[in-house]
Amino acid sequence: MGSVSVHSMIVVVFVVVVSLLLVVDDVEGVQTTLEGPFKPVTVPLDNTFRGNALDLPDTHPLVQRTVEGFQPEQISVSLSSSHDSLWISWITGEFQIGDNIKPLDPKSVGSIVEYGRPGKSMSYRSKGYSLIYSQLYPYEGLQNYTSGIIHHVRLTGLKPNTLYQYRCGDPSLSAMSEVHYFRTMPVSGPKSYPSRIAVVGDLGLTYNSTSTVDHMIRNNPDLIVLVGDACYANMYLTNNTGSNCYSCTFSNTPIRETYQPRWDYWGRYVHHLLQNISSVSRN
Ligand SMILES: [Fe+2]
Repeated sequence: MGSVSVHSMIVVVFVVVVSLLLVVDDVEGVQTTLEGPFKPVTVPLDNTFRGNALDLPDTHPLVQRTVEGFQPEQISVSLSSSHDSLWISWITGEFQIGDNIKPLDPKSVGSIVEYGRPGKSMSYRSKGYSLIYSQLYPYEGLQNYTSGIIHHVRLTGLKPNTLYQYRCGDPSLSAMSEVHYFRTMPVSGPKSYPSRIAVVGDLGLTYNSTSTVDHMIRNNPDLIVLVGDACYANMYLTNNTGSNCYSCTFSNTPIRETYQPRWDYWGRYVHHLLQNISSVSRN
């Protein structure tokens, strides 16, 4: 299923699981690696799943933009190079798609994270950078895309295995997020590592994806590893006409088209998961 399916805009990661098949599905019974080693458990595919996973449509509530102005959305926490640092990422402003798109100015809104220990003031502040991502097609009639402003801020000097609270955005514009939380990784050692790790791949953005996301949330992972293929924008034309078989349905297109807003939809779909749990991803 290798494909162009990575959301390179948000440094997020993930995931999982050969399309829902290999997860241990007994919430009470999921053990941590510290209690192992265990024999792998394969759970039969739930027959109530659609055999042909259907993408969530643009109109689905979980893919809507729920903020205004320069309020942050698609917030995520990603691992950095060591236990004492993390990345916080988010997007401000809405994407545009069409013939006459005008990219936003990344300098129009700041990239600030305020953070601290729970119960105390968020007295630490880190500043990051921002950028724009655009997909432009060299054929008339195909719709071009430009993203909202993508922000990345690296926090450093964090204590290991410690809970922090944070908010992100631009305080000068009164455009800060709600308060969210993350726990840093322990100092790495033979008996010191995150004990509950969710691994997921090819998550997609379908009605079946919800089962996987819910499973991860119920099992309270310390870390989520997104191993690649977040969702699939390349099964669509730029006019948002989709197909389960691009080459079958759209055999005459001059170039492989995509519908880039699918990345934004995916970022909105998983933000409840990724804004409070560290993740590491491969595009
Ligand atoms: Fe894939």
